[in-house]
Amino acid sequence: MQYLIDDANLDKIKEVASYFPVEGVTTNPSIIAANGENVFERIKKIREIIGPDKYIHAQVLQNTCEGMLEDAKKLKAAAGENFYVKIPITKEGLKAMTALKKEGYNVTATAIFSVQQALISAKAGADFVAPYVNRLDNFTADGINVVAEIVSIFEEYGIDSQVIGASFKTTQQVHNAALVGAHAVTLNSDLFAQLITHPLTTKAIDEFEQKGSEFYK
Ligand code: G3P
Repeated sequence: MQYLIDDANLDKIKEVASYFPVEGVTTNPSIIAANGENVFERIKKIREIIGPDKYIHAQVLQNTCEGMLEDAKKLKAAAGENFYVKIPITKEGLKAMTALKKEGYNVTATAIFSVQQALISAKAGADFVAPYVNRLDNFTADGINVVAEIVSIFEEYGIDSQVIGASFKTTQQVHNAALVGAHAVTLNSDLFAQLITHPLTTKAIDEFEQKGSEFYK
């Protein structure tokens, strides 16, 4: 399972990427806005931090197919290679996914809340589909079950498209996504440390240090 950072804060991306085995960074217009910089400038800076081999998934803002193609071109120019253009699932979005795929773009379908949205996006050429787990949970709509059903329907029909779970708030949600076979998860920076924190690990390491200190000189 791939781990990606769902953030546009440069310090946080630097910190997480220097410790954790991440495959790249995802953003959306809300994340960009929270960081208060022009999207194209910020994407270039993220690329400088993570290097050329990691992935950047960045989202279009315009809501017509034509506008999405225009945004995609500018985002790709900022992100360089290993770029996925994120397109929200709408009718215009589907048209844009098909067109962008034809032009050789990698495509991530986003704002996915149902299995049919995921399946239709995949048929339109999306390489990844991004179901929003926590937002579904907040509607008591069982986000993990949606992830599980997408994974299994893709398998059932031999669809190459992969599932990148998004909108996580707890380590339990991340764990459950892994259990049902999500191919990737994108997590806000703060969740990474929580994933590896365990009081028994802290206790074990304290013990190693106390007992071993005399014998490692
Ligand atoms: O990648 C999508 C994600 O950023 C949405 O997360 O926390 O706004 O539900 P959230």
